[in-house]
Amino acid sequence: MESLSKASYRIVAIPGEGIGPEVVEASLKILQHVAKIQGFTLQVDYGWLGATAFEQLGSYFPQATTELCDGADGIVFGAVSQGGLLELRKHFDFFCNLRPIRSVNSLLHKSSLRPEKIQGLDILIVRELVSGIYFGPSGRSSDERGNYGYHTMRYYDEEIRRIARKALEQAQYRRGLLTVAHKENALPHLHWTRLVQEEATKFPNVIVEPMLVDNLAMQMVLNPQRFDVILASNLFGDILSDIGGALVGSIGLLGSASLNANGFGLYEAIHGTAPDIAGLGIANPLGTLGACVLMLQQWGEVQAAQQIIAAQDRILAKGYRTADLFTQGEEILVNTATLVDLLLEELSVVQHSQLGVLHESRK
Ligand code: IPM
Ligand code: MG
Repeated sequence: MESLSKASYRIVAIPGEGIGPEVVEASLKILQHVAKIQGFTLQVDYGWLGATAFEQLGSYFPQATTELCDGADGIVFGAVSQGGLLELRKHFDFFCNLRPIRSVNSLLHKSSLRPEKIQGLDILIVRELVSGIYFGPSGRSSDERGNYGYHTMRYYDEEIRRIARKALEQAQYRRGLLTVAHKENALPHLHWTRLVQEEATKFPNVIVEPMLVDNLAMQMVLNPQRFDVILASNLFGDILSDIGGALVGSIGLLGSASLNANGFGLYEAIHGTAPDIAGLGIANPLGTLGACVLMLQQWGEVQAAQQIIAAQDRILAKGYRTADLFTQGEEILVNTATLVDLLLEELSVVQHSQLGVLHESRK
């Protein structure tokens, strides 16, 4: 990713509903703390989307929100239950959705698979986010057989090519294997294999491996370590990325970045509103925090990103767990606020140990 590092940033926070506000607030506290340590400032404006936007402004996708987002450095998003999110993705053409799935050493035993199956797991799902069946011609209608509904999976070749180039770029900087999810035995008019292979001629170091998406889903649970970058359409990427949640131990751990061609992005966890635990203060903020780490990396604030990852790894290694990851008797159960406090403390420790190293090296 190119470095855009600068001294001050403006973000738009869209907390949304359910656990959205809790995990966004938690992540912003940590972001502000890291900003102070690293010496950049972060201005936060609040925007509305979804049901809360409808209540406040009479629209699920208010123009006031898109205007607020215009010219911002990033959007930090919580969760919504209905309306607004797909429109937001489409409006800013956030076509490139990056969903990293990495195992955390202290959480290996939380996986649905045996620890040795996911040790060192490092998959990047590149999901096309503004086309395909989510946005194709759709509706409800009726004919002589009765009422029916339809959604159309349609991709322009160029839409496949542009997301293919992003996935190839990522694979080139990683381990050089790009697995392409497709379903050409049943959907032969969507030419994912051919189009990606044509784009891949400009990336001689990347091996392109087309794989039927049903088989791919099976391989992800049989042997996930074999994967590097997985390229998928909007719907297939949505489904495959939830498997990632089971692999790493909780969907609450996974964050994502959705970028447009200018590198402007929307940063959100891959989980939803979790209405069953909303308002209880027990949600895992690490998915949204992970998304914020991707935002920092996108800005070129690599040290800040690294600091958060290090602090998080240490807190998890000490056994602190939110409810989604907690096992009775083995670990320390904490709520969202306590986890944030622990992270803030750990960040200060990380800061001091870094300063320590600096002083040492100056002697
Ligand atoms: C996701 C979510 C969304 C999607 C829903 C909330 C529309 O499941 O980001 O994975 O399907 O894209
Ligand atoms: Mg999903």
